[in-house]
This record gives sequence, structure tokens and C-alpha cells, in this order.
Amino acid sequence: MLAGCVPFTAAAQSLPAPNAQLASKELNGRVESLLKKMTLDEKIGQLVQFNGGYATGPGGTNLHNDELAAKGQVGSFLNIVGAEATNHYQHLAIEKSRLHIPILFGQDVIHGHRTTFPVPLAIAASWDPAAAELVAHYGATEARADGIPWVFSPMVDIARDPRWGRIIESNGEDPYLGSAMARAWVKGYQQDDLSKPDSAAVSVKHYAAYGAAIAGRDYNAVDMSEIALRQVYLEPYHAAVEAGAATLMSSFNSINGIPATANRHTLTDILRNEWGFDGFVVSDWGAVAELMNHSIGDGPTVARKALEAGVDMDMEGNLYGTVIADQVRSGKIPESVVSEAVRRILRVKFALGLFEHPYTTPGPAYDATPERRAAARKVAAETLVLLKNDPVEGVGVLLPFTSKAKKVALIGPLADNQRELLGAWAGNGDPKYVVTLRAALQERLGDRLLYAEGCGLLSGEDASVLNHVDFNRPMTADSHEPVPDDAKTIVEAVETAKKADVAILALGEPANWMEGEASSRATLGFTGAQEQLLEAIAATGKPIVLVVLAGRPLELKWAAGHVPAILEAWSPGIEAGHAVADVLFGDVNPSGKLPASLPRAVGQEPLYYAQMPTGRPARVDLSHFPRNAEEKFNSRYMDEDNSALFPFGWGLSYTRFTYAQPTLSRSVVPVAEVLASRGKSVVTVGVDVKNTGGVAGTEVVQLYIRNTAASVEQPVRELKGFARVTLAPGEQKHVEFPLGFDELNFWNAEIKQTVEPTTYKIWAGGSSLAKAETSLQIAE
Ligand code: NOJ
Repeated sequence: MLAGCVPFTAAAQSLPAPNAQLASKELNGRVESLLKKMTLDEKIGQLVQFNGGYATGPGGTNLHNDELAAKGQVGSFLNIVGAEATNHYQHLAIEKSRLHIPILFGQDVIHGHRTTFPVPLAIAASWDPAAAELVAHYGATEARADGIPWVFSPMVDIARDPRWGRIIESNGEDPYLGSAMARAWVKGYQQDDLSKPDSAAVSVKHYAAYGAAIAGRDYNAVDMSEIALRQVYLEPYHAAVEAGAATLMSSFNSINGIPATANRHTLTDILRNEWGFDGFVVSDWGAVAELMNHSIGDGPTVARKALEAGVDMDMEGNLYGTVIADQVRSGKIPESVVSEAVRRILRVKFALGLFEHPYTTPGPAYDATPERRAAARKVAAETLVLLKNDPVEGVGVLLPFTSKAKKVALIGPLADNQRELLGAWAGNGDPKYVVTLRAALQERLGDRLLYAEGCGLLSGEDASVLNHVDFNRPMTADSHEPVPDDAKTIVEAVETAKKADVAILALGEPANWMEGEASSRATLGFTGAQEQLLEAIAATGKPIVLVVLAGRPLELKWAAGHVPAILEAWSPGIEAGHAVADVLFGDVNPSGKLPASLPRAVGQEPLYYAQMPTGRPARVDLSHFPRNAEEKFNSRYMDEDNSALFPFGWGLSYTRFTYAQPTLSRSVVPVAEVLASRGKSVVTVGVDVKNTGGVAGTEVVQLYIRNTAASVEQPVRELKGFARVTLAPGEQKHVEFPLGFDELNFWNAEIKQTVEPTTYKIWAGGSSLAKAETSLQIAE
């Protein structure tokens, strides 16, 4: 199922039509006849969702689930999992409630349901939409078997600031890559039929622009131009809607002063009127009630604003359930607004086949079968990014390992930590299934493997409470472990390293504590004493391979200057150890590419390759203090280069790829032809890529453009195509990228998508630094 050398571009991929099921006449007839029978209270019941299990937000409220289900006063539950538990409530709704409307059970399925794959940011690093599709399909199959036909995934928020902990759930910084991945996730979950027993409806989140929180602080306001909103941030949601997404989740943030959960512009004007979305919108957890904190009104006012803006279901807020009915009765809210929201929700319930098959047949207990493990291992290996592999004097390159290494010292708090390797927000995943790096390397090396934990993931008091954090329970006095003695364990690790020929350091940050929701950071270094550990091992002079295990770009500046080999391994899931070992030993040639830039310093954030031009560009990165006016009066930092430490699209291989100059099927295209080419191509860019190294490998060939003369300034580079290409040593392939309106347009000052006469610079290569160049003229 994973793509080998299938060129992928937006224009080449055929999109499923927006969900035909939701638009079907027969289905809508059933919705209308049911709607006619419903009382106002029954209608409002459909707009309400309650938490029924562990809390995934503050203040889980409902204690009367049985009663609400039996009275038809709850349209949906979240966090109730398993055939037995879901069937319990479903029986009450179907057998006791007047209209027998099934409950829709929803849950967060972020990177697999029970089989835990790498985190979404890692999957984006594969640049393989087929991998995302596969992971989504596993998630849907397993969730549905657990009574959950509705998954709160994919998160398609553009994330350009790794201080924001939720970058882990994203596809990274780029709208083109993000849109390709968004389509794939939707397709994998929903397939072409929501009612299939292995399909689940998605909830694309968090609409809109949640990832642009000011200063990377979660839940913070978003303030950006309408052009940036449209051209960058809305793109992946739009792609997901075009792929047939059945539901969307509104976000916590405000956008240019209007909270996203009461934002008519994004929720109705754009989503429904421009994009033709025909599913429903659920709020994020408590986001309707939290509108009061945004100071746009009291409870009844904010509930009315959210509903009228286009939020159909109130997640765990219970505001719709308590304040809408009175406003309808007093004429403040037309009943037709309520009915329309109900209609949208019922459509999805019918399309999922819940009226025909409301219950889930209990199946065998979950097991991480060899087939599941094989899928997790293959996907995980594809997500690893080789950042650096410089030769060491007298040894050569360290990777891939050969018999050169007699003894290997594996060191670091993430080397043998099942819980953290599973990754943040692993939902129903179980750490017990994780093969750690230590276990996998032991399989390969036996007693040639030495091990030392080195230090904790956190230091001092933070570390002593880490293992006891449970957001559903208050901390108690005994919720502590002894404060770790990092100084002592670092000395022990140094002794271990001294006995080995090479050291592998497995470092990062605590995924379950510092990544995901509400996990913003103001610094981006390794946590606790890990940097000290790294420096102490480096001081032994032993060659080091650093394996970075983190769901966000970390600041690796010291490491990049002192460590010869660095592998970015994210949070790889249940097959973590095997996948990392496959790459370290060369069974898998690494092919991952960064979906987000890695900074030199946190102060560069938000850092992304598609920067806007400036009148005073820094022509070169200067590592010294500016010496004259030419160097000083530029858009640059006094104390750091502008560039990323490792840029977007970056990733090495054990072989080398060489690019010829790209060619065009024609070099001049009339603007009228481009304007008429939506969904089509007008010119093809071709590039020859050759494997000039000694082993087979897969390269992600990337295509970038720059519009050099537009009425609104355009980014210095934008990704507009990519393809995974597998090449034997010495083999060459010709890769083609179609370009048309979809790739060449931009949003103008009148907020219209257009193309103007101009020249596009075009680059093809293996990262956003691609050098092989040509140019395309768009004539009057
Ligand atoms: C809040 C999160 O923002 C969202 O991603 C999630 O789906 C809901 N809680 C439900 O858990």
C-alpha cells in the first residue's frame, strides 16, 4: 500500500466528490420525515454532546448519561469506548427514547486507535500520503470495532511555530504538503462509503487557523491578514472538505477578533457558501461556553452566536442544552436555525448507517498482531529523517552500522521508555506493545549492547511527579518519586560509553507531559539534564549517533556542531525500536524529509521556508557581528543566522541523488489559458533524478516556485509538487510535475484567486534549498 515511486501532485490526484452520500435524495428524505416528528427539546438533544469517559479537557460535567440517552436528550457522546459501553447507551437511546435516534459516539484517534503508529508530524515527514491513508484506515477499522464511528481527526492546522505543542498532531508548516496529507487522512478514514464497517466519519480540526496562536501559546488569539488566512491556513481544511470530510471541529482561538466558534465568516460564508460543505460542525471541548471568556456576551448570547454562525453541536459545554430552547420559544432564535443544525447531524448519522446498525458486535480482545506490527514498522521507518551523517576521522560515516561497531552503548532516558516512545495522545494505545530501542538493538547485538539511562527526562521536582500525572485526579502528597540524581547517572553513562566503540544517544522531551494540547514551550532544548548528558558523552571522544525522539522540532544547535550523525525519529509508536534499528543498520535506507524547519534558536520562531520577501533581505547568513552598514541594515538577527539549522524538506539518504536542470513542456503560457485551467495543467515541469551513490534509495523529489512579479507580494519559495521516487544505484528517472491554475494562483488584494502575467522561478531538488532552476513566463 505504501507508494514506491508514484509521482504525487495535487493536480494528478483524483479527489472523491464531496460526500455524495450526504447529498443523496433518499437520505435527505429520511432526514426530513424524522425532523417533522421531532419536538424542540428532541431537536436540541441532537445538538448536545457529552463526555462519558476520561476527560480530554477541563471540567467533564455530565453525571446523568443513562437518563439523557433514554430521553433522547443527547445526540453524541465522546470518550465512551468499546462495544459493551457504547451498546449500553445505544440500547437506551434506541429502545427507550421516543424516536429511537441512535447516538453518535466520537473519540480522538490521533495516530491509530489501538495500534499506535508514529505521531502525525512524523507521518507528514514520510511525504507519503499513502502512509497517512493506511494509518487512518487502521484507525477507522479499530475505532469502529470499538463502537466509535466518528474520529476527531485529522488535525490539519498549519503549524509554523514549534513552541506550540500541538505541532505534533499537525502536518507541519506547509499548505501544499498539508493539503496532500489532509486528503489522504480523510480518504483513509472515510473511504468512499461512510457506512462500511471499516469506515469512520472524520472531524477535521481545528477550524480555523488554530495553529497560528500568537507566540505559540495554546488557545491564544490569532491575528492575520485575510490573504494569509486564505492562501496558507485555510488550504488544508478546504482540501479535506473537497475530499468529502463529513464533519469539522471549530477551534478555541479567535481570528482577527472574532472567536472561531462564533465566526460566521469562516463557518458559513467560506465553509458552506464557498466550499459547499454539507456535513456538520462540532465545537471543540467547551468552546461554546468559553465564548463568554472571549467577552462577546453572556451564556444565552454566546450560544445563539455560535449556533447562528454555524456550530451545530456543542461539545461538553451543555450551553445549547440549557439556553437555546428558551430563546427559540421567545422568538430570539428562529426554530429553522435549530432544525438546520439537526438536519446536518442526522445526515451524518444516516450516512454512517447507524439507523440500520446502531450496535457493535463485540470482537476478540485487541492484540498487536504481526500484520499490525508490520504495518506500524514500515510506516515508522519511512518517517525517520537522517539530518546529518558526516564522516568521522579514521572511521568514515557512522551510518549505516556495519560490523565496524563492535560494542554499542545505548544511552538516554528515551532508549527504553515504552510510554514515551508511544507518543503523545496515543488514545487507546497501550505502552506495553512498544518495542523500545533497547529491546530492538538487543535483538541485533546481544551482549555487544551496553545500556545506561543517563538521566531523567525532567530534573528535580518536575521529574519526581511526572510518572503520576493524571489529569483526571488531583495530585496527592504521595504522588512523587525520589528526585533523580542526574549528576550520578551521567557519570555512570560516561563509564558505559567509554567501554563501547560507538554511542547511540536517545534524547528528546517527555511526549506525554510536554507535547500535544496545552503543552506550549518557551524553550526548545532537550529537557532536564539531557544536554549535559550529551556533552559529557561527547567529551569522551567516542563517536555518537544521536537519535532525537520528539514530537516537535527541537533546538539542536550544539548537537549539530558536535555530533557526526543525527537521526530525527519523532515518536515512532509501537514499532519504535525496530524501525529505528532498521534505519541504523541500513535495512531501510532513510527517505523522510522535514515537514517543519528546525531552528537554530527559539528566537527565530515562527520559522518557515515560505517567508515573504523584505526590502532589505539578508543576502547571506552571517555568523559574525555586522561590520559595516551593508551588513547591519538588513532583515537579520544580531546574534544568529536567519536560516534554519535543518530546513523544510531536508533529509539525507545512504545514497546520493543528483538533479539535472528542470525542463518545461513550454516556456511561455498566455495568462488566459492559466486562468481557465482550474483542476488542469497547462505546462509540465520535467526533471531527471539520478542515484549516483552505491545503494538503492528513495528520494522525495520536490518542486518549488516563486512568483517574481505579482500585484501582492508572494513568498520567496512555495512547494507545488512532490514525488517519492525509488532508484537503484546508477538508475535515473524522469519525474514530471503538472502546473496549472491550482499551483500558480494567489489571492489578490480583492480577495480573489488569480494569476497575472509574470515570471515564475522554478526549482527541483531534495529540499527547500533546491538549486536546479528554470523559469516559466506567463504572458499577457
Ligand atoms: C480538545 C482538543 O482540542 C480536540 O482536539 C479534541 O478533539 C477534543 N478536546 C476532544 O477530546
